[in-house]
Amino acid sequence: MEQDHVPFPYEFEELTQEEKDENKRLYNYPKIDLIRMGPKGYVMPRAYKEQAESIYNLPIRPSDIYVASYQRAGTTLTQELVWLLANDCDFKTALEVPITHRYPFLEIFMFYIEWKKDRLANIHEVEESKRGHLIKAIEVMTQPVMEKLASMPSPRFIKTHLPMCCLNPTIVDKAKVVYVARDPRDIAVSSYHHARLFVVFDFAGTFKEFWNLFINNRFPMTPYLEHVKEAWNLRHHPNMLFLFYEELTKDLETNINRVADFLGKQVTEEQMARLCDHLSFENFKKNKSVNYEGLREFGMMTKDEVFIRKGKAGGWRDYFDEEMSQQAEKWIEDNLKDTDLRFPPTK
Ligand code: A3P
Repeated sequence: MEQDHVPFPYEFEELTQEEKDENKRLYNYPKIDLIRMGPKGYVMPRAYKEQAESIYNLPIRPSDIYVASYQRAGTTLTQELVWLLANDCDFKTALEVPITHRYPFLEIFMFYIEWKKDRLANIHEVEESKRGHLIKAIEVMTQPVMEKLASMPSPRFIKTHLPMCCLNPTIVDKAKVVYVARDPRDIAVSSYHHARLFVVFDFAGTFKEFWNLFINNRFPMTPYLEHVKEAWNLRHHPNMLFLFYEELTKDLETNINRVADFLGKQVTEEQMARLCDHLSFENFKKNKSVNYEGLREFGMMTKDEVFIRKGKAGGWRDYFDEEMSQQAEKWIEDNLKDTDLRFPPTK
């Protein structure tokens, strides 16, 4: 059945000149161009604006499974777990087909529209035998969202880092959403490395400078805690499963069972053992289907960082001095006053 098209409800606003100037200094990527959206002031690449309404109105199929998160919360781990359970533990396909092919990344275009122009203009720099592959990948990444998703067979597995307020408001009534959250301090550390890894950021500042962007809602898709709270507020909905990275990594089996129950699947003892092994950090690091190393040959990554990095909860302690730790504690407390959400998670 056709769904009613509704106008996108949020306004966009320019960053201040001071913020724009600081971004120019902090990112080596010269075309970084951010704007703010809506009453919470979510920061978005400018290209998002063009497709915001399409994404908001994206037709939902009842068989759709969304894996949603703020970046670096354990999305890839959750995607792989969800996909395997939904596909009766088809490890063979999981190992053969990259996760990026099994899960379109809803808003990936917004980071790569500008990059695409330069990459295609300089395609002669790429080895001839690899050009066709690169051009195809760029087309898929920057294809309009509606087009890309409409042509997918069901069930569709979809990755997004957008906050829930940007998605079709009927999403949890019609389809399934698995949201994963993580301690904001670890998100900040991991996002700092991620912003150094991808050439469309190429972050040049220190971790402290990154942290200041993060807590002052200046980095894409922040404010982080608002992002999480939007999903947390839906956690009792039968079509929403809310997970924590800290719990996933501490007790994978229990969480595999939770995801299996959510998807209406049974897991045998043998499958459980294989899932735990397949999803371990050590195996993920080596697994080409999930480690994103394939993007390196497209010139999308800088050389000193990796996507599957440390895989530890609480690693932030190595990055925060006493002053930052206290600041973080107060910032978390202030921003969680209106909710029972806690980091690290409590039962
Ligand atoms: P770190 O940078 O702290 O290591 P996302 O998939 O949302 O981008 O999240 C990436 C983070 O999850 C990275 O965190 C990455 O190392 C970690 N991660 C990925 N796979 C993992 C796994 N199988 N077990 C534990 N952590 C994993």
